[in-house]
Amino acid sequence: KRGINIMVSSLPSLPPVATADPSACILDAFRIAIAKRLSDALSPLTLEQAYSGVDYGKKGVDFTVALPRFRLPGKPDELAGKVLADFQPDDFVASITHDKAFLHFQLNTANLIREVLNQVHTLTYDSPTGKASYGTNESGKGKKLVIEYSSPNIAKSFHVGHLRSTIIGAFLDNLYKACGWEVVSLNYLGDWGTQFGMIATGFEKYGSQEELKKDAIKHLYDVYVKVSQDAEADPDVKIEAAKWFKRMEDGDETALSTWRFWRELSVNRYIDEYSRLNVSFDVYTGESEVGKEWQDKALKRLEEMGLISDANGAKLVDLEKWKLGKAVLRKADGTSIYLTRDIGGAIERWEKYKFDKMIYVVASQQDLHLSQFFKMLKLMDFSWADRLEHVNYGMVLGMSTRKGTAVFLDQIIREASSVMHDQMRKNEEKYNAVEDPETVSREVGITGIKIQDMAAKRINNYTFNWDRMLSFEGDTGPYLQYAHVRLTSMERKNPHLFPLPPPSQIDTSSLAASSHARDIAILLGSYPDVVKVALKTHEPSGVVTFAFRLAHAISSAWETLVVKGEADDDKARARLWLYLCARDVLGAAMRLLSIRPLERM
Ligand code: ARG
Repeated sequence: KRGINIMVSSLPSLPPVATADPSACILDAFRIAIAKRLSDALSPLTLEQAYSGVDYGKKGVDFTVALPRFRLPGKPDELAGKVLADFQPDDFVASITHDKAFLHFQLNTANLIREVLNQVHTLTYDSPTGKASYGTNESGKGKKLVIEYSSPNIAKSFHVGHLRSTIIGAFLDNLYKACGWEVVSLNYLGDWGTQFGMIATGFEKYGSQEELKKDAIKHLYDVYVKVSQDAEADPDVKIEAAKWFKRMEDGDETALSTWRFWRELSVNRYIDEYSRLNVSFDVYTGESEVGKEWQDKALKRLEEMGLISDANGAKLVDLEKWKLGKAVLRKADGTSIYLTRDIGGAIERWEKYKFDKMIYVVASQQDLHLSQFFKMLKLMDFSWADRLEHVNYGMVLGMSTRKGTAVFLDQIIREASSVMHDQMRKNEEKYNAVEDPETVSREVGITGIKIQDMAAKRINNYTFNWDRMLSFEGDTGPYLQYAHVRLTSMERKNPHLFPLPPPSQIDTSSLAASSHARDIAILLGSYPDVVKVALKTHEPSGVVTFAFRLAHAISSAWETLVVKGEADDDKARARLWLYLCARDVLGAAMRLLSIRPLERM
């Protein structure tokens, strides 16, 4: 445990609490101070117990304690009386109010502001790790996460379900890293199955090497659509396709080399498109890479356990006992299927990575599928089976572009850019001042999509709405980018105040009189907690909400906490510093959400 006398703080020293780390979250110090008052007054309450009862307050209250939760003898009034007896304000607590079963604590404003800004600044620019680390923690140190997300199917459409997996997965990837985990990200492509037999069958008739090189994802999809139409009229097409896929499964080199070529071209294109979304994967794997060995072994083990029955040559697993239905594990022609590949794949990943946790970010439509294969792994007694976790999410309704339904990722990205571009052009004056409208509109458009996607609980369905997400008003992506740009521009607009002196030489006392400065400071101070909560819930929405609360607090401060018109340079510097710290934390929250914060727009 790191010492409590942290170098950044000029506050009096406090006793340590196991779950607190003031060197990463200065509000922990204030919470310890509150807990100490409680445990001193309310024996036998320990410091640790008291600490766990200190919650954020509602509306204008910094921290609140619900006395009954400590289960101490005596009525709340008596307990409150003991805490309040001979109350003296100190460096941490300015006042306490008693309201029924609650005690409300207000922090010492001057110290709160100074200490929060100090910590944000230090951990952003002088972090011991050398990287900006404000908001991060080391709870996952030494642990390894494998996370699978996006996982589109080659030659089929990239639908919004895949987009959600990509967005939520990228967030979780960043989040676990921010909490000290080693993270291996996988993109598990749907790169195996009869659809490749279909394409091979159709390629002679509809394929073009030239089109393939131009845009493999689109061309393979087009071929697949055409040959599927043929198949409806002519059953032989499907038989041909199945034969071709069987050759692939049997390791026929000519069949495989064609397939490999298609796959590679598609992956290269995906790498490009993901990078536009600010997403990258450590490993592109796929259903094709799952070996036969474990799929066979799994089937055998489940057979020995009496869970397999035969249905016209196909193998069926019966999970009715666990209310998970029946599922096919192997087709009559011996070829593998999605479910079996997931079982084999999980075992191989375990052997390769020995993870502490493995997350699958997959739509809730596949809840049953994931429960089934998680269950089978448990039945097979793998000690690590309970390390698997399914992070699911609801559906997106009505994702279409002006040209119709989007089937490719690059259509979605292009539509977001162009809708945003049109939006920006509506304000001609502003538009003409933008240096690189192409990039800006793309980034802001993508931000709009991401924010809309992460604004509510994952499990909720939502309706895709270009107008709403691309507006500069309301809680939208563009609004957040705008808030960040405006904060960034302060540096440019106030050259006479630059460079700012080191924190120890900035006098922040003038900020204490401003409730706006106080609101901003406490929000900034809460950011490390926002990150911790997100790790527990796997919900990006808490981070989105935080970003908007911060952006709103900043925009309410603009008019009273002016920098440019302030004649007193010391005051102006303190304010500027507050805004720059706000920019850094807003930027950190946006990056956590996989958004690239813009500097100009
Ligand atoms: N490719 C699949 C689909 O598009 C998603 C894969 C999810 N991951 C998994 N391990 N099953 O439906």
